[in-house]
Amino acid sequence: MNHITKRFGEFKANDDISMTLHYGEILALLGENGAGKSTIMNILSGLLQPTDGTIEINGVVTQLAGPRQAKELGIGMVHQHFMLIPAFTVLENIILGDEPTKRGRIDYQHARATVEALVEKYQLKLELDAKVANISVGMQQRVEIVKALYRQATILIFDEPTAALTPQEVQEIIVIFKQLAREGKSIVFITHKLGEIKQIADNCVVIRAGQVVKTLPVDQVSENKLAELMVGHPMNGQLVRQLNEQQHPVLTVHNLTVKTNHQLKVNQLSLSVNTGEIVGIAGVDGNGQSELINAISGLTKIQTGEIKIADQNVTHQAPRRINEAGLGVIPEDRQNTGLILALTLAENLALKSYYQQQYNWHGLLNYTAINQTAQRLISSFDIRSQSEKETATELSGGNQQKLVVAREISNEPKVLIAANPTRGVDVGAIEYIHQQLIEQRNKGCGILLVSFELDEILKLSDRVLVMHGGEIVGEIDPQNTTSQELGLLMAGKKQNVGG
Ligand SMILES: Nc1ncnc2c1ncn2[C@@H]1O[C@H](COP(=O)(O)OP(=O)(O)OP(=O)(O)O)[C@@H](O)[C@H]1O
Ligand SMILES: [Mg+2]
Repeated sequence: MNHITKRFGEFKANDDISMTLHYGEILALLGENGAGKSTIMNILSGLLQPTDGTIEINGVVTQLAGPRQAKELGIGMVHQHFMLIPAFTVLENIILGDEPTKRGRIDYQHARATVEALVEKYQLKLELDAKVANISVGMQQRVEIVKALYRQATILIFDEPTAALTPQEVQEIIVIFKQLAREGKSIVFITHKLGEIKQIADNCVVIRAGQVVKTLPVDQVSENKLAELMVGHPMNGQLVRQLNEQQHPVLTVHNLTVKTNHQLKVNQLSLSVNTGEIVGIAGVDGNGQSELINAISGLTKIQTGEIKIADQNVTHQAPRRINEAGLGVIPEDRQNTGLILALTLAENLALKSYYQQQYNWHGLLNYTAINQTAQRLISSFDIRSQSEKETATELSGGNQQKLVVAREISNEPKVLIAANPTRGVDVGAIEYIHQQLIEQRNKGCGILLVSFELDEILKLSDRVLVMHGGEIVGEIDPQNTTSQELGLLMAGKKQNVGG
């Protein structure tokens, strides 16, 4: 890619970027949230047209008129936010737009055989007949990968494929990437996890504010140096955890049972979170964590049980009532549950409070107040944007995440559910969000933290509960437990609760 510039209006998302991808190379692309990573790769996959600059593929200068042409040239991209159709099965999604036909009909037998061969070759765990709506994020990620492989891409672009995966799933993907590179495929890999870059990339392109600041071989730099190149200054930061006295339960879940699609997802689960406490939930994806969160938030019907927030019984209440009882939620899926992408940043920030007196003037929205609050939050949470009046779609993925976090924390909840709160967020912003969570805790908020990042759980939590098969199977002290021990418990080794 030679001297690529991409403007959105006056704003330059990519500013004279040049980069080279070699045959069989794994090239990491690193940069802060909003640096321009997805933009430059969307250009390479034909989804966006550059304002300026050229692309050469195998030495030939090429105009990519659109995704179809990029595909014909062997370029495949797995996007940061999945592009799967929930109502279709895994198999239907994989072949969508590229269905083999026989006498004018889709030849499912042939398609299935091709896909099964790929699944076998790369040892991917996939249920071909499951509906995408019912599968975990980890499996959706694998569906996207198989989709690109099915199209026989030789240049593969992965935009934050590991952001929502468990450590074990990440390792599985890393093995696949290495195998693909050995076969001579070329890979661009976007991630915020510096350890992953060190582990698999050959070279790394660091971009900051739309410009390349450095291209370098990975084995010659430390993780700290990479972080420093990315943010432009040395990183520091200390989490100060205050001792909170006189704690009392602020969230209690008693005997909760949740079934979805006739399957038991949460089984007679009880837990409580105290004021001024962070309780981590560790577990392999798909062990009922999502259903637990949705039940507490009032988004799922529950079969049995009782949920209390600060002495208010909120069992079977509507989400708004639960919200008003003092619950904040940073949901797992920022785009589908956390935001309304077509609304402005300011409107998204007011989603849970727009009807309150401060934002409401005789039944009309008080946009002056709404926009003022938004400006304040955008600046304190460093949400990289042009104005509070732009729509949430225009934000980069990590900045969308920061938008959700800003809204939920600024409402000063009594109880905060944080599900993968730093998903897709750059290392600088992770530090800021961690500080904010600790600050809320120090002020007395009770936080239920669900995360695939064991390090995040061990670092932030006062107590960690291990969830398996819809039950709490153990409780550990994060100060005295290694991530290996935690990993064993997560795999289902039972331990006496409280022991
Ligand atoms: N369609 C658009 N209209 C206006 N601005 C846009 C649009 N798409 C992206 N931008 C802006 O371009 C900049 C770069 O966005 P991009 O998505 O490439 O960031 P990124 O490096 O992928 O960040 P992240 O790590 O958060 O995913 C951001 O400031 C974003 O707000
Ligand atoms: Mg991005």
